[in-house]
Amino acid sequence: MRNRRAVTAGAVTIVLTLSACGQDTDSGSDGLLKGGTVGIAMPTRASERWIADGKNVVEDLRGLRYKTKLVFGDDDPNRQVAQIRELIKQGVDALVIAAIDNRSLNGVLQQAAEAKIPVISYDRLILGTKNVDYYASFDNEQVGRLQARYIIDKLGLDDGAGPFNVELFAGSNDDNNTTYFFSGAMKLLQPYLDNRQLVVQSGQTKLSQVTTQRWDGATARKRMDEILSTSYGSGKVDGVLSPYDGMSIGILAALKAAGYGSDSKPLPVVTGQDAELASVRSIIAGQQTQTIYKDLRELAQIASRLVDDILNDRRPTVNNTTTYDNGAKVVPAYLLQPTSVDKSNYEDILVAGGFYTDAELKK
Ligand code: GAL
Repeated sequence: MRNRRAVTAGAVTIVLTLSACGQDTDSGSDGLLKGGTVGIAMPTRASERWIADGKNVVEDLRGLRYKTKLVFGDDDPNRQVAQIRELIKQGVDALVIAAIDNRSLNGVLQQAAEAKIPVISYDRLILGTKNVDYYASFDNEQVGRLQARYIIDKLGLDDGAGPFNVELFAGSNDDNNTTYFFSGAMKLLQPYLDNRQLVVQSGQTKLSQVTTQRWDGATARKRMDEILSTSYGSGKVDGVLSPYDGMSIGILAALKAAGYGSDSKPLPVVTGQDAELASVRSIIAGQQTQTIYKDLRELAQIASRLVDDILNDRRPTVNNTTTYDNGAKVVPAYLLQPTSVDKSNYEDILVAGGFYTDAELKK
């Protein structure tokens, strides 16, 4: 396995500098350029995963001797559209896009199509346009299933334990992954809600009631604060379905502020996703319970290979040609598998796998 290239402070600084200037990110290591320039539009610098994604895709494409132009949309859909428009104007040969709002890109992707620029939908499926060539992501329903399965196992629901109180959180309503995560999780949790081994005291069980704009941790914290003060007078929360680490940290802050984390009032089972540094440290400290690890290095490689195959007129390798209907076409996809990580296996998966060093986690 290659060394992790994602989360060191020095590396982050380099990427931010390059992207902030909108500069080219250089030629291949031997100075030879192969196939032109690839525009990479990432959604935000607010979370370390997307910084890592940007850096990984740049490095992989450089290894294949492409020039790259990396931009971050700072969670503003209009800004991302303007950035992609600018990349098209600059004459990029391909686009790799992780959308902020999956439905805001139709106009600009029409321009890309007219300029014959192929588009890879990165991690998040772009909806409502036929001008998406390939989709590279993880099995996102499986992410939700792994989160739900963790709650089920930890609470002993299969052995008949309960009733337990759980609260449900979902991601941003304009991110298509939100639906996959939530529906994957709910397929497993629903039977226990139906037989009342699980009870949602807030009553908020519909996706439209539990989404979290821009996956924001502070927004998740606020909602958890409100739920605790309105629905948990004397009762206590036993589990929280959280789809993303940045939200889990916010939810944990609300729980701790309400006195959770002691022997008499232990923290509930709290899931997450992305194996972000703060969350893995929280897992080691016995606070967040689980995260879903997705090897971003592999995702970047898949996306880079798709670009390279398209630009060299080779038929790209995909492993799903039927599932990912974006409303305008079925987008051929390459899906990777996510892994459930908790205190019992983080060493094996994250440290032995080269994603973090022990020193980083124990700081
Ligand atoms: C999703 C992504 C998750 C998480 C989330 C918040 O689209 O699949 O892994 O990163 O965005 O950034």
